[in-house]
Amino acid sequence: MSETAIFPLGFALTPSTNARAGAERDEILADPGFGKHFTDHMVTIDWSVEAGWHDARVTPYGPLLLDPASSVLHYGQEIFEGLKAYRHADSSIWTFRPEKNAQRLQRSAHRLALPELSVADFIESIRQMIAIDGDWVPTAPETSLYLRPFMIANESFLGVRAAHKVSFYVIASPAGAYFADGVAPVKIWLSTEYSRAGRGGTGAAKCGGNYAASLLPQMEAYENGCAQVLFLDGETGRHIDELGGMNVFFVHGTDTLVTPRLTGSILEGVTRDSIMQLARDRGMTVEERDVTLEEWREGVASGAITEVFACGTAAVVTPIGQLKARDFTIGEADAPAGAITLSLRQELTDIQYGRLPDRHGWLTRLD
Ligand SMILES: Cc1ncc(COP(=O)(O)O)c(C=O)c1O
Repeated sequence: MSETAIFPLGFALTPSTNARAGAERDEILADPGFGKHFTDHMVTIDWSVEAGWHDARVTPYGPLLLDPASSVLHYGQEIFEGLKAYRHADSSIWTFRPEKNAQRLQRSAHRLALPELSVADFIESIRQMIAIDGDWVPTAPETSLYLRPFMIANESFLGVRAAHKVSFYVIASPAGAYFADGVAPVKIWLSTEYSRAGRGGTGAAKCGGNYAASLLPQMEAYENGCAQVLFLDGETGRHIDELGGMNVFFVHGTDTLVTPRLTGSILEGVTRDSIMQLARDRGMTVEERDVTLEEWREGVASGAITEVFACGTAAVVTPIGQLKARDFTIGEADAPAGAITLSLRQELTDIQYGRLPDRHGWLTRLD
């Protein structure tokens, strides 16, 4: 990946004149939900063909002024990331493997013909957010400040080509505990009619278009009482790819973890990679390979597959109780969460919140 700036960018700060007072902020932080409230500031960095990355700034949070001809509004040239800032018991603020998100944003940028932002500038943009809005990182257990870096094409031009003007932003939103009443298994819906990604498409990139395409099958999932939608590979329709917003794992017996291999149509999750490492540390065998629907069905029936779970930054690890399709189900909706699923989840969150040693150097201090 190319570094687009040799020296990290300097950020100009315009503080908000109507930042929320402590009491109002605390009220929001007491029950933040997810993605509903935003902090007082945002980061912007502009890019143009002529000037490269420039004009990095921290400004009051507020609407963007976009020309109606901005290319992102027409051709969807947009990518994003999602990571969290965690408050530790001593009040310090940390994030988890931000370089992985920075590198994934670079890969997404490459696929969407957008400019690559350096890893250093990506991480500095997050530091800048915490420097000004660190008080928005909640303190209650399993809460965090969700960070949403994103990049859009904003050249005012209706020709179909890569934009010559782009902006990168970071906004932040406090997030409550995902499973406030304990980690509960979910039902997921098998999409047989729709694919998320095709061969040579954008499945491995974190671009808005992938999510737009997943919304109709996601509605189908809700209509069928399911929390998320599972996609099969677009080419053969036989292999498990991933959920609309999470990767999938299968526990075989007590010592083997299996997850679909990265085919180019699956998003390479940071949580996925971390779970594989933690499992290997425990001496488990980790297999990245094709997993068919038949293997899932037969494995659950025979008892070879003992647990199934999904993982991603937002919910960390979510046990999957049942897969539901139009004419069959696999697993029991009311099955309890598996012991390996729960202990991997616990270990990962313990590292993220500083309750266990950071033996892999995954944490970056932000304050
Ligand atoms: C489609 C998809 N797969 C997997 C993931 C999990 O990725 P991560 O663990 O980096 O959050 C996400 C969430 O970002 C996603 O949107």
